[in-house]
Amino acid sequence: MNQKVNSSSLDFDGEYGLRYRSSVRGSIPGYETFLEFAASTLKSQCPEAQDCLIIGPGAGEELTLFLGVLTNARFTLVEPSAQMRSFCMAELQKINATERCNWIANTLAIAMKELKAESFDAVIALNLMHLFPPAKQAEAFDQLSTLVAPGGTMLLSSYSENLNPLSNNLIVSIAIERLRIQGITEEQIKMIFSSRNQSVFSFDPSRLVSNSKVKDLGAPLQLMQVGLIRMWLWIRASTKA
Ligand SMILES: C[S@@+](CC[C@H](N)C(=O)[O-])C[C@H]1O[C@@H](n2cnc3c(N)ncnc32)[C@H](O)[C@@H]1O
Repeated sequence: MNQKVNSSSLDFDGEYGLRYRSSVRGSIPGYETFLEFAASTLKSQCPEAQDCLIIGPGAGEELTLFLGVLTNARFTLVEPSAQMRSFCMAELQKINATERCNWIANTLAIAMKELKAESFDAVIALNLMHLFPPAKQAEAFDQLSTLVAPGGTMLLSSYSENLNPLSNNLIVSIAIERLRIQGITEEQIKMIFSSRNQSVFSFDPSRLVSNSKVKDLGAPLQLMQVGLIRMWLWIRASTKA
């Protein structure tokens, strides 16, 4: 969840983007482990992947790991923020991997005009879906799922509230205690949680009405939950049913 305390905090080209690498570690307990788990999943499910797509690679921390485990893969990176692209490009230069990546400097919706259906062995969007309000989440999910090749993998993570209000309140109260342990003030905690379903929207794939294009992705497998963040895996059927 958004850890900065004003309404413009999701400006990835401004202060929020500048501080993203530190604030995400406040938002996602065990962020490094979370990324390692994503990389392990890709290595386990599509070690021979050739063409991978990342939507919103942010500062490039996940990309560094993915390039290391998917050694045959080229990555298409869809990232609208110039600031986040510049952080990501600096990471790529450090590991000499610039040549393995193509950029689409735009949003997913616009990138769809040039992305070919069913052409990626892995489609990855970590911590993207919660930036979209619910109607746009469904649209983005359909767009992403059409890009997965037969037999391919889709990996998503998002801020995701529990549908059971009692369980949800429990997790929220744990998340609040964690922020207190980190020394965040009560006023800041209130501000952070005021972004819920205002600028950060819960995403839950079980609530999506999937269209005919996405049926052969099957049900999501929830791989991880840490506080209010979850990660899911889909494997597209190799052939149409
Ligand atoms: C919360 S960050 C996630 C970064 C990284 N994937 C991670 O898990 O730490 C979201 C990223 O998605 C990008 N983004 C925002 N809106 C987008 C859109 N409509 N299409 C593609 N990327 C978008 C942002 O610029 C940012 O880099």
